[in-house]
Amino acid sequence: MPLRSRLALTASLLLCATLLAGCGLAGDTSPDAAEPGTWRPASGASAARIAGSAQVGPTTGHAPPPVVAPAGPVHIKRHPGVDCAIAKCVALTFDDGPGKYTEGLLDLLARENVPATFFLLGQNVQQYPHALQRMVTEGHQLGSHTFTHPDLTTLPPERVADELESTNEAIRKITGFAPDTVRPPYGAHNGATDRLIHDPLILWDVDTLDWQHHDPARTVSVAMEAVRGGSIILLHDIHKTSVQAVPELIGRLKGQGYSLVTIDELFAGTELSGGQALTRRPVGGQA
Ligand code: NI
Repeated sequence: MPLRSRLALTASLLLCATLLAGCGLAGDTSPDAAEPGTWRPASGASAARIAGSAQVGPTTGHAPPPVVAPAGPVHIKRHPGVDCAIAKCVALTFDDGPGKYTEGLLDLLARENVPATFFLLGQNVQQYPHALQRMVTEGHQLGSHTFTHPDLTTLPPERVADELESTNEAIRKITGFAPDTVRPPYGAHNGATDRLIHDPLILWDVDTLDWQHHDPARTVSVAMEAVRGGSIILLHDIHKTSVQAVPELIGRLKGQGYSLVTIDELFAGTELSGGQALTRRPVGGQA
């Protein structure tokens, strides 16, 4: 082969090798390349897809994430291999926020790779749009806790409907979608309210009474005494002492073999209907 041809061939081979290496590198750093069975906070393109058309008001100082896909209630499946019908699952739920401790809690949950479900007060969400956006992009679930935290059983039907609709609207304005579960304040509901609530009512079976005693150690011990497979644990992210309890609580739950999941994940594979009240998911056929 003449020298000129050999040089041309060598150059072509080098070019191909460079291109292939480039392709391989791009594949290895894809934000979607998570191991099955593990979870990490969504970032980059993944986060943008999950966030959908999330919007933030001009006064927040936070730029909205890029819009990549239509908005919708997309929940990350962090435990795709876990079947909460038979496994020991537990859902951490936080009521009455968002508040000034919520983002600190989100930092803790991200570090621990633990999803939670937040039952939000409509009257609080406008003040903390960035917290809501983080909840969505980091794979947590959002639920409604009404707008002003009334006892719904004391209200006329139109006020009940207004509490629910105004909360959905406030959340939709920030995240692009309305929540699809409701936690009535005080867990108070009756036949009349159940007919007006078109989403499942998510109550709890483990009440830490964190809002009453403000003692992180007691929050942990009360929860650990009462928890069992399929439990829903009630906490409040508006109290510093409740957030302080979370690392120890997560450590103890993980130590006892619990999978920490969202409400959607806890009830995955079951049919839930509007107005149906749930306090936990029965596991392995237990009541
Ligand atoms: Ni509440």
